[in-house]
Amino acid sequence: MTISVKNICCIGAGYVGGPTMSVIADKCRDISVNVVDKNEDRINLWNSPNLEDLPIYEPGLDKIIKRCRGRNLFFSTNIKKNIEIADIIFISVNTPTKKKGIGAGQASDLKWVEACAREVAKYAKGRTIVVEKSTLPVKTAEVIKTILEASQSKEISGELNPFFDVLSNPEFLAEGSAIKDLEDPDRVLIGGDNEEAILALSSIYRNWVPDNKILHTNIWSSELAKLTANAFLAQRISSINSIGALCEATGADVREVARAIGTDKRIGSKFLDSGPGFGGSCFKKDILNLVYLSNYFGLNDVALFWEGVVKLNTWHQHRISKLIVKNLFGTVTGKKIYILGFSFKANTNDTRESSAINICKDLLEEGAILTINDPKVESIQIAKDLGKIENPKVHIMNENDNFSLEGEWCYSDKINNGFAGSDAVVVLTEWYEYSKINWSEVSKLMRKPAWVFDARSIINPNEVKEANLNFWRIGDGSIT
Ligand code: NAD
Ligand code: UGA
Repeated sequence: MTISVKNICCIGAGYVGGPTMSVIADKCRDISVNVVDKNEDRINLWNSPNLEDLPIYEPGLDKIIKRCRGRNLFFSTNIKKNIEIADIIFISVNTPTKKKGIGAGQASDLKWVEACAREVAKYAKGRTIVVEKSTLPVKTAEVIKTILEASQSKEISGELNPFFDVLSNPEFLAEGSAIKDLEDPDRVLIGGDNEEAILALSSIYRNWVPDNKILHTNIWSSELAKLTANAFLAQRISSINSIGALCEATGADVREVARAIGTDKRIGSKFLDSGPGFGGSCFKKDILNLVYLSNYFGLNDVALFWEGVVKLNTWHQHRISKLIVKNLFGTVTGKKIYILGFSFKANTNDTRESSAINICKDLLEEGAILTINDPKVESIQIAKDLGKIENPKVHIMNENDNFSLEGEWCYSDKINNGFAGSDAVVVLTEWYEYSKINWSEVSKLMRKPAWVFDARSIINPNEVKEANLNFWRIGDGSIT
């Protein structure tokens, strides 16, 4: 029997649910796509007439929202109604690392996923395909199935008797390029065993993804493949950052090493950019999840192997703070340092696990006076991340301002306002506008001897040196 899909419900209007469902709505005009969330503020922002207010910044997303919202794309807090009418329900809620209890610090906290399964069990009518879009530990589908089946057995047979299929369909988009990744994915992965359900889900993607890119596996392989993909990507970053540290010690240049190894087709050139360490909501959490699962299944050496990737990343972040202090004559107490970039990568307003958080905290701990700029991250978010929310009045820097509180920070909403009196500038996110700074102009404003620390390799070393500034670049042993 062919299952016809007319209504989709996605639970979770976050960084995945929002863009993913927008692209589905854009590509499938005859399907009504309803994105629901219990967070009313977030839903209001998704519905804001001013597209600048959308709760997440993602290049190209505003245009799609403009085309589809109100046509076949809807954002709502009415979870019950939208579950009732859905043929397919995507679960796209957060799955952070558990903070307490068994597995704390490693295992994923599945309480939000479980809550969704219970809501679906309560309200769904007729045959409903439930899709795991969130990143989940292997065997989570079993939990979801058990909860759904418990509701099935309670029903008396009838036309609207709920009947569920559970599929895994992990998301591989990266923030900042989400729309491009969704419109032209390397692959769409669907795990499950019911042919009709798999066909129904595939039929959505077939509207724009070629058949040979839609991969089918069993449900456990699909769940594990998602964790493995993130672990492999993060592992490459820890690998290149470890070599970068060796380059700095030996006079080699990590960019040259990366280019040399990346031309080997077996290695490939992607994900070899040395930086301040990987951030983002998923790499660390997904690897720790893999560590937990490996230990759980008695594979302790496998767990240790993957744990090393996260440990190296943390070590690397602190290494950067330490070398800033070392180069500034061993102390930053009372010195002004201008931080350029707070998001975990360019083209997103997301700061979750951003390396900037650890590096800024280290410098504040050392008594530095920080000024922080980011084109998309708001000051209030930075305050939360730095644990300074108890003082919600963030100091916003103006031109000619002289903020000088040791161990404190202020926000500069214009790039040019933060250089005055600074002993150092630290580039932590690769925003395009930072590569266009006129160093000979800003050098005149800084206190000498002054430093530029480029943790993203986006600054032209010659321009900085000609501007009479000292220069340090990640993974570069030759520049002083
Ligand atoms: P997010 O925190 O941005 O969004 C999750 C949303 O779910 C929140 O708005 C929250 O209010 C809502 N929610 C939680 N429980 C709910 C419930 N019971 N009912 C209704 N709404 C509920 O998270 P995200 O970044 O979109 O990530 C979601 C999942 O996708 C995670 O498992 C993550 O690992 C995975 N993932 C994320 C990315 C990424 O780039 N962020 C990429 C691929 C996969
Ligand atoms: C990552 C994966 O790339 C996605 O495929 C996956 O779907 C997603 O995680 C997820 O599951 O959440 P994302 O975290 O959005 O996507 O961004 P990435 O481009 O992977 O960057 C992650 C971090 O690694 C960033 O801090 C970035 O600056 C850093 N990075 C990336 C490097 O330091 N060097 C590189 O060469 C690449």
